[in-house]
Amino acid sequence: MAEAESSSGRGDKEFFLDRPVQGSPYTLKGSHSLDWGLQNRLNQIFDPKSGRTVMLAFDHGYFQGPTTGLERIDVTINPLLEWADTIMLTRGILRSTIPSTYRGGIVLRASAGPSILSELSNEQIALDIEEAIRLNASAVAVQVFVGGKMETQSIHNMTRLIDLGNRYGIATLGVTAVGKELTRDAQYMRLATRILAELGATYVKTYYVEKGFETVTASCPVPIVIAGGKKLEELDALTMAYRAIQEGALGVDMGRNIFQSESPVAMIQALREVVHENEEPRHAYDFYQTIKSRFEV
Ligand code: 5RP
Repeated sequence: MAEAESSSGRGDKEFFLDRPVQGSPYTLKGSHSLDWGLQNRLNQIFDPKSGRTVMLAFDHGYFQGPTTGLERIDVTINPLLEWADTIMLTRGILRSTIPSTYRGGIVLRASAGPSILSELSNEQIALDIEEAIRLNASAVAVQVFVGGKMETQSIHNMTRLIDLGNRYGIATLGVTAVGKELTRDAQYMRLATRILAELGATYVKTYYVEKGFETVTASCPVPIVIAGGKKLEELDALTMAYRAIQEGALGVDMGRNIFQSESPVAMIQALREVVHENEEPRHAYDFYQTIKSRFEV
């Protein structure tokens, strides 16, 4: 039976009257005024301790089929899951291939349409928000083609997903797409990331640029994570991640530079050192070599 306040007869309740009630300010960039559920989901993506994330992206099949390294996701990706803070993937792969015992963040690909055989920017929303909730997604990801042929349509895809996501507390990752016709420099990245943030993206994925990347992160009021892009030498990929983090990115969302690495299991762990521990590239690369040799035996 519940204890009745007036009849308990105990005089030993402790209300800590000398201590102001503590709040817990949410410190992830630009996210302090989000609703509790959204903040909680962002914690599934961004490690609350470092405030950063290592996202493992393997949604490439949604437009290009069985990409090199992703022919058998059960064989090549599942062994990496324990080192990913978050995975970015399609619902088809989540249901068919990822064990439901997986406990990290889930970012679901939510825009799609064209394949590599046609105009890639002609995407539409390809996921119901109820489906995202059913699959326990932390966020949905949508491609935005700022300056591209289908700019307005892709922006509209994003704003619609943001409205639905905000209704149910699901974050939206706006992904700045770079096509052949779009420049990859700081001026373009500032424009694209800022537009996505202004229109309500919870966080933004973009490419690292060698010059002026700190101005991209400075002018974007929400977290930025960088895509990996084409496969680089491991040391170069770790260097890119290091620079991005030191210049204000709050994580990486890498695919090919992990799963096409000579040793994916070593590469994802080395990236964790760079992202969460501020480890310098050379040391992270030594760490990569050590783990690689350990997994070779
Ligand atoms: C497609 C995506 C991909 O998931 C991601 O960018 C691919 O990652 P990577 O470039 O590191 O292979 O968002 O637009």
